[in-house]
Amino acid sequence: MEYFIDSGDKLAIIEYPITQFFLLLVLMILIAIELILASIENIMFQTLTEEGKERYLEAKSKKFEWTWAKNLMAKLTKSRSIEREGEIVLDHNYDGIRELDNVLPPWWVYLFYATIVFAVVYLVRFHIIGEYDQKLEYEQEVAAAQLAIEEYKRTAKDLVDASTVEFLSDDSDLAAGEKIFQANCVACHMADGGGGIGPNLTDKYWILGGGIKNIFTTISEGGRDGKGMIAWKQTLKPVEMAQVASYVMTLGGTTPANPKEAEGEIWVDPNAPEETNGTESETEETAPEEMEQAVDSTNVAMN
Ligand code: HEC
Repeated sequence: MEYFIDSGDKLAIIEYPITQFFLLLVLMILIAIELILASIENIMFQTLTEEGKERYLEAKSKKFEWTWAKNLMAKLTKSRSIEREGEIVLDHNYDGIRELDNVLPPWWVYLFYATIVFAVVYLVRFHIIGEYDQKLEYEQEVAAAQLAIEEYKRTAKDLVDASTVEFLSDDSDLAAGEKIFQANCVACHMADGGGGIGPNLTDKYWILGGGIKNIFTTISEGGRDGKGMIAWKQTLKPVEMAQVASYVMTLGGTTPANPKEAEGEIWVDPNAPEETNGTESETEETAPEEMEQAVDSTNVAMN
């Protein structure tokens, strides 16, 4: 029922109490079947002769035997029973120690044949054809593990902190970030990030540092004392702070309706490669593509 009934996050049995009645009903039917079978057996037993009853009871009390397993064992070992050992005893005798001329146990012989087949296949695959070698295998496994880590990080977003946070470029994350921004931040930063009580988030000037890590830290720990930017880590989950921080990054380079004058310093990503190192001559508005480039190179540097 859990498999077939779509009940969202909850168990179907809790979401729809009627299923509990259904289960109860099934249980009742099963008990009824057991009772009916038991009484049929009882009635038929009464119709048996005395001798028949005895035989029936005897057959019933007989223990279950693993005949097929015993047969298989005999086939695989071909061992002689102790009573028949006399047939294969050799005629030499060392101080009373005698030797049996047992055949090689078939399980052992089959294993030996299997190793020969394995060796031939191995020889052809790795020494003649050269399908792959340890190095290639290692690299493939590392690549697969890397993918698994990415996947894990995507599903375990709540594990992020200021040192591991990365720009989230998925539309869903940015949309979630925008929602959080509209709900919590617009009072001081304005809907377009142009600034009011809080500073302008769209320009290149940052009081507390730009880039995903600094922005995440500011949101998580708050601004300087007494300035009004509280620490959001009590209110927002880590993943939500990462989402809103990523959204704030996308505001960079946009033109708000009433931009607040620049505060702080032009922030230069210390990890960015030389050419994207935003030199002073390049103080024109950063186009969104360049912005993305800078973000990409941050990620590369962090990787
Ligand atoms: C009560 C007003 C207020 C609210 C609400 C607020 N902020 Fe701020 N924010 C500020 C102030 C004031 C500063 C400047 C802090 C400083 O100077 O230390 C600031 C600074 C920042 C900075 C750093 C800017 C820089 O130049 O370094 C970021 C990023 C930021 N806020 C993001 C957010 C986000 C995201 C939210 C919503 C979750 C938010 N803020 C909500 C007032 C606010």
